[in-house]
Amino acid sequence: MANIVIIGAQWGDEGKGKIVDLLAEKFDIVARYQGGHNAGHTVTIDGKQFILHLIPSGILHGGRLCVIGPGVVLDPKAFFEELDMLEEAGIQVRGNLYISNRAHLILPYHRAVEKAAEEARGAKKIGTTSRGIGPAYEDKTGRRGLRVVDLFDAENLRETIFELTREKNCLIQSLYGGPPLDARQIYKEYLQYGQRLKEFVVDTAFFLNDQIRQGKRVLFEGAQGTLLDVDHGTYPYVTSSNATAGAACVGSGVAPSWITGVIGIAKAYTTRVGGGPFPTEANGTIGDEIRRRGAEYGASTGRPRRCGWFDGVATSYSAVLNNLQAIVITKLDVLDEFEQILVCTGYEYRGCQLKEFPPEIKVLEAVKPMYKSVPGWQSPTAGMQDYDGLPVRAKDYLKMLSDITRTECSFISTGPDREHTIVLPDSWTARTLYQ
Ligand code: IMP
Repeated sequence: MANIVIIGAQWGDEGKGKIVDLLAEKFDIVARYQGGHNAGHTVTIDGKQFILHLIPSGILHGGRLCVIGPGVVLDPKAFFEELDMLEEAGIQVRGNLYISNRAHLILPYHRAVEKAAEEARGAKKIGTTSRGIGPAYEDKTGRRGLRVVDLFDAENLRETIFELTREKNCLIQSLYGGPPLDARQIYKEYLQYGQRLKEFVVDTAFFLNDQIRQGKRVLFEGAQGTLLDVDHGTYPYVTSSNATAGAACVGSGVAPSWITGVIGIAKAYTTRVGGGPFPTEANGTIGDEIRRRGAEYGASTGRPRRCGWFDGVATSYSAVLNNLQAIVITKLDVLDEFEQILVCTGYEYRGCQLKEFPPEIKVLEAVKPMYKSVPGWQSPTAGMQDYDGLPVRAKDYLKMLSDITRTECSFISTGPDREHTIVLPDSWTARTLYQ
């Protein structure tokens, strides 16, 4: 039995898509369980780049079944755009993808409310992906959301859409001064989506449990990263779902006792998109250089990502919250040319070293990272596939990250392609999956 959860150990965009794609061959099913099309998983196969937002990256491996679980919020328009893109590229999606009948839907009023609310926040804006993710989760928790299954009951769908659009229009017009939405139009659109979605919809919790009981292996594909988790992250500068490993169970309907391990993905440095504290952010030349070398622009929104050094405090917090068995360090090659590399090993606040990752945004904004400076390896690692071939200083750097996070390093990613990966043969992941 090997049912493994892959999570982002930083603020998202760690390269989960590539690692899920790489590991997918060892699993029968790949399941998404939280978030929505705010995620952006970039996978490069034979030089061709695919950016997936909603459909699990496992779909790119022929023969893998993929699941969108009930914890995901689904925008049907975004789903069909992604489906079309994949089918045009010759990827077989139909018959390989199952969508939960209990997944909540994103509607146009969610996007409209989010846009208006973000504008109204001014300098305090979260910098969301503007996909309507937060408002859709708000409706879910507020027990007024629409789920996939509701698309198949025309009368109830009409009634709910009219009622909710009226409510949202009040908010949009009176609070934010925006234009109202047309409920009739939304109803027509969503009724049609229901017809088109039907062939994908099942009770995915039942399906997954049945498959697991038959001995099939499931890879749970997390979206965003631990520091964006609504409960454990840098609240309120977070996403609206749980990006920590526990969500794999809640968001899929698979019990914790079935999960055999959690692998965290972290970049060799740190990035963040949108607002919120980022203690190791490097403004100026260093940040620009990391962004340029790492092509750090959002896969979902195209926004330049904020860049900085590896944050050992934040990533260790992640390692504990997710009880990581292993960590995968991605984009090592981005640091190839730096003369000196800094790693944050602690936070200092008002002259004292903090013992915990602070919950207060003001404290996190004010902490002084305690850096350890190490000499860079200044030789190319891009595309390397063999650990022994890595420069000694790169090996020392990786060991340092592993020591700081107290987590074994399993794989190292040295480029975007599947092949640009170093698998450490004695690591937990290799022992669990490759032997
Ligand atoms: P939302 O998820 O669109 O509500 O955005 C909330 C915050 O999470 C914003 O700072 C986004 O930039 C960030 N965010 C959401 N999805 C991702 C992702 O996949 N990668 C990185 N940041 C993300």
